[in-house]
Amino acid sequence: MKYAHIVGWGKGVPQRVMTNNDLRALVDTSDEWIRERTGIGSRHVAGEGESTCTLATDAAMRALEVAGISPSQIDLIIVATATPDYAFPSTASLVQDALGADRAGAYDLSAACSGFVYALSMGTDVIRAGSANTVLVIGAETLSRVVNWKDRNTCVLFGDGAGAVVLSGSDQPGGVLSSILRSDGSGGDLLIIPGGGSAQPTTADTLERNDHTIRMNGREVYKFATRVMDRTVRELLHKVGWTVEQIDLFVPHQANIRIIESAAKSLGLPMEKVFTNLEHYGNTSAASIPIAIAEAAEQGRLRPNDKVVMIGFGAGLTWAAAAVTWGQPKLVSRSQRTAQRLRYNVTSVRSRLLRSLRRIEGKVFGGRSED
Ligand code: ACO
Repeated sequence: MKYAHIVGWGKGVPQRVMTNNDLRALVDTSDEWIRERTGIGSRHVAGEGESTCTLATDAAMRALEVAGISPSQIDLIIVATATPDYAFPSTASLVQDALGADRAGAYDLSAACSGFVYALSMGTDVIRAGSANTVLVIGAETLSRVVNWKDRNTCVLFGDGAGAVVLSGSDQPGGVLSSILRSDGSGGDLLIIPGGGSAQPTTADTLERNDHTIRMNGREVYKFATRVMDRTVRELLHKVGWTVEQIDLFVPHQANIRIIESAAKSLGLPMEKVFTNLEHYGNTSAASIPIAIAEAAEQGRLRPNDKVVMIGFGAGLTWAAAAVTWGQPKLVSRSQRTAQRLRYNVTSVRSRLLRSLRRIEGKVFGGRSED
């Protein structure tokens, strides 16, 4: 039997940071309200030339570097996102091209904030089934492009970013051991972008009504999240044969510190075992868990054989949890690492050039159409 181990991780976030105080210029809010109700202090916001694809590519390149794996070794790329660059082609195909992953299949997965855990589970299953051995799993979002910057109920919550992990097949037991994927579509209207799809194509009226931006019933989503987190984690622990006390690190979706604290309390899990970074990123939807994993690994909070539980929840409604035994990056030789770093630098320069080219093209074509 094959096991899917996490052997690489990375994050990619925009440089621009927007603080709670910056938001006061846009809506009637305060740093105090946002911190108290959500735990968020600032968020990263994509700038010109940045998109879900560019952030995902940055995260993927770092994950490949950690893993010591070249893009041509990737069999499959899954990008979990609710904010793809286009309806089609998929963002995963754009990432595949940007990386030069010439042997990889690629597709996007849509399960909102639960998307990364869904994608991790799918990547694990293709490895277990023997259809692939190296899978790049990415959660990436540019939610700043779909929030209504005049709606204080939602615009203060979200941020942009991407996180990626490399899954690698091995006979050694461990890695992603078990997952639970759930949906309750009857709650679809609680968190929705109503316009721009086939049900309500974009028209002047839908634009006027801001139907292309996020609508959320915050209180109901809050209740749903606190309801499902405790019972789903317990179900997962039962499936995998772990106790709450055995969890070394709990990595929940970073939506609201009050939701996270309430889940930890009802599980009886001390906050020292809970990873949070939403203060600096806000809710980055599908990107929040892989960004958290990358930071936890960078901070040395994940050691080999640690028992890790992740849980995401969000639009759909969807929710998903996974139990993972933390692995080690593959031991690569110094020359392999040098080669990988060179490849990383070349790919990085290439993608920056492409971004500049797109910006220039945008300006040139924009100028022409005005003529
Ligand atoms: N600044 C100041 N006041 C505000 C703001 C703001 N940014 N936003 C709302 N308020 C006001 C409201 O208007 C309301 O005023 P009123 O009493 O005069 O009407 C008051 O603050 C309280 O509003 P509530 O909505 O009751 O505030 P609550 O404590 O419920 O917090 C929040 C709102 C933060 C949205 C919370 O409900 C929440 O976190 N919900 C869950 C959201 C979530 O987790 N989403 C995850 C999924 S995301 C995905 O899948 C893409």
